[in-house]
Amino acid sequence: MSRNIAPSLLAADFACLQRDIELVNKSEAGFLHLDIMDGLFVPNISFGVPVIKAVKKHARKPLDVHLMIVQPERYLAKFREAGADWLTVHVEACQHLHRTVQEIRELGMKAGVSLNPHTPVSSLEEIIPYVDLVLIMSVNPGFGGQKFIDTSFKKIRKTKALIQESGSKALIEVDGGVDMGNASRLFDAGVDILVAGTTVFGSDDPVKMIRDLMMAGVK
Ligand code: DX5
Ligand code: ZN
Repeated sequence: MSRNIAPSLLAADFACLQRDIELVNKSEAGFLHLDIMDGLFVPNISFGVPVIKAVKKHARKPLDVHLMIVQPERYLAKFREAGADWLTVHVEACQHLHRTVQEIRELGMKAGVSLNPHTPVSSLEEIIPYVDLVLIMSVNPGFGGQKFIDTSFKKIRKTKALIQESGSKALIEVDGGVDMGNASRLFDAGVDILVAGTTVFGSDDPVKMIRDLMMAGVK
């Protein structure tokens, strides 16, 4: 059983980023999740390379960078230089996904591919042997604090089956609307990493919440 939490900095206090990064440092989280939005692929703009560089100076967890941008292939090296350890691109944003995944790995990062809620798991069939991570969006990307889409459970199980059939070692990450009401069932369905923004940074004790999510349903 592998269970991990990647707190999303999108829900942190941007005026106190260092404080919130330190909270994640002292927690049991395995990653720090960074959401990059360009106002084109998604209807929102978040932050970019200079902020990742600043975060990297303080973060002691691997940076799990989720690119919600068009033509992400233009910036792979820039994200590497800024400190990304894991780099995830959207299947819907890449014309030559295989090439982009290869380039991410050649730059020394772990490569992730993400699916929007409407994108079928079958679109991963050919790329699955080459990726380290599948990121299943359980909300429409662009904003924190949205409601979890329930049909994501079926997608998670299909993704797990595809990974097992293909002999891939890819991890499954789920992003959007994760809370104490679904964490345990998500791990049971085969998720390795839960991304959680609002649930972690909206709580009074983010460090405890990270632990509670990780241990959800464990007796
Ligand atoms: C949404 C982002 C998520 C977001 C999750 O587009 O990819 O990572 O921060 O936020 P919550 O956990 O609040 O749904
Ligand atoms: Zn994300």
